[in-house]
Amino acid sequence: MNDPEEKKMKNLPKYRQIVHFIKEKIGNGEWPIGSKIPSQRTLAKDFQVNRSTVITALEELMADGLIEGRMGKGTVVINNTWTLLAKNSAPNWDQYVTSGIQRPSQKIVQEINQSESNTDLIQLSKGELSAEIFPLDVMKKMMGQVSQNMEAFGYEEPKGYFPLRGALSSYLRTIGINASPSSILIVSGALQALQLISMGLLQRGSTVYLDQPSYLYSLHVFQSADMKLTGLPMDQDGLLPENIHMPRGERGRSILYTNPCFHNPTGILMSKKRREEILAASENTQLPIIEDDIYRELWIDEIPPFPIKTIDKNGHVLYIGSLSKTLSPGLRIGWIVGPEPVIERLSDIKMQTDYGSSSLSQRVAAEWFTTGQYQLHVEKVRQQLKLRRELALSALGTHLKDVATWNIPKGGFFIWIKVLPSISMKLLYAKALSKGILLNLGSIYAQEKGNYVRLSYAYASLEDLQKGIYELGLMIKELASK
Ligand SMILES: Cc1ncc(COP(=O)(O)O)c(C=O)c1O
Repeated sequence: MNDPEEKKMKNLPKYRQIVHFIKEKIGNGEWPIGSKIPSQRTLAKDFQVNRSTVITALEELMADGLIEGRMGKGTVVINNTWTLLAKNSAPNWDQYVTSGIQRPSQKIVQEINQSESNTDLIQLSKGELSAEIFPLDVMKKMMGQVSQNMEAFGYEEPKGYFPLRGALSSYLRTIGINASPSSILIVSGALQALQLISMGLLQRGSTVYLDQPSYLYSLHVFQSADMKLTGLPMDQDGLLPENIHMPRGERGRSILYTNPCFHNPTGILMSKKRREEILAASENTQLPIIEDDIYRELWIDEIPPFPIKTIDKNGHVLYIGSLSKTLSPGLRIGWIVGPEPVIERLSDIKMQTDYGSSSLSQRVAAEWFTTGQYQLHVEKVRQQLKLRRELALSALGTHLKDVATWNIPKGGFFIWIKVLPSISMKLLYAKALSKGILLNLGSIYAQEKGNYVRLSYAYASLEDLQKGIYELGLMIKELASK
């Protein structure tokens, strides 16, 4: 602690530190008028004090006229040190914040997003590879090679760094997709591909048909643009084709989204036959398909059937891939493959959005592919995932066999657990959090309620995975006995 100001602060009584902290936040505009300040519980935790100390600090700030408790809203900022003196009030950011076009995520999703960076928690929720699997040495080597060969770099071509698109074109051939670099667009993760499709290809009132449940329900990418999500049932072979239809008036407006390999959140792998049926249904109804295939390489038992895109000869399918689940989401590199006019439209929107994904990330990604290191790496990831899946299944068999059922995923990250007793899932979530375990409830991924938990065996350490599942069993039994 070199900063004398910081030193001085540390010597103050705790309640004064809280007053100072909040005044700073208000005074420099980080917490504008109308914004909600953190709860007493959060402040107590952050400052490692008990609630009464926080209350003393808040009372002082209330007496100063800076904050006020409001029914149903918590404690909000009502003045700042400037407005107390000034004649004109500051803009009402609260109003702006609640009226933007993009809808906020569900509250629980926001909470989970925050908690996912808390390293003290056992993360049974996180759809990301564990740091234990991160190929740090090879990543350093790849970055070293990129830096050795570095030349001046700036904005890339609209569709992305050409050598990366070339490398992807070769890689895609290995999974049966013939795509030249001109029909590939580099995006900042698969999520951006979905955002671009929503902005560039669909219109207000469009319907997005999708697997039910689905990862898409945890976001508001399409709904924010006034589009409707219509969930279609699945069985153990994936999305059921008989429900695919194109209602009158929707032609040219609607689209089908599916995640056929190791589906998020159920882990289901779509069979080869089902892929053919889905494509046939899409051709019959003229409903284009978004094939989100970002878990494809994470097979554990056997290579999955070729992508739907492989058998698509008429350009019905937009195919999405990403490095987020196999290598690192930190690179923010994904790709979308489709008919050239579509790729051109999406690349124009991407240019208007961010003028291209990071040049550095694109170079690093290209290095992984062109050196063959990507394939070597995913082989190792599969072995690790196999080990983790076995461990998770064995722990589930020991600790949850009487209170839950689950599928055995053939790859990917997730086990979809159905909790049998009719307990409150919200209570289960809160109880788990209080015990230091972060869960993803199934309700995030579906419209209707159901007692499901999406368990990820990819992220937590093996020890934590075992402990977390043991605790989960105890908690379910305890709630069921009440
Ligand atoms: C099915 C699915 N699609 C897309 C994404 C977003 O991935 P990315 O990090 O590549 O944007 C995720 C991430 O969880 C996902 O599960």
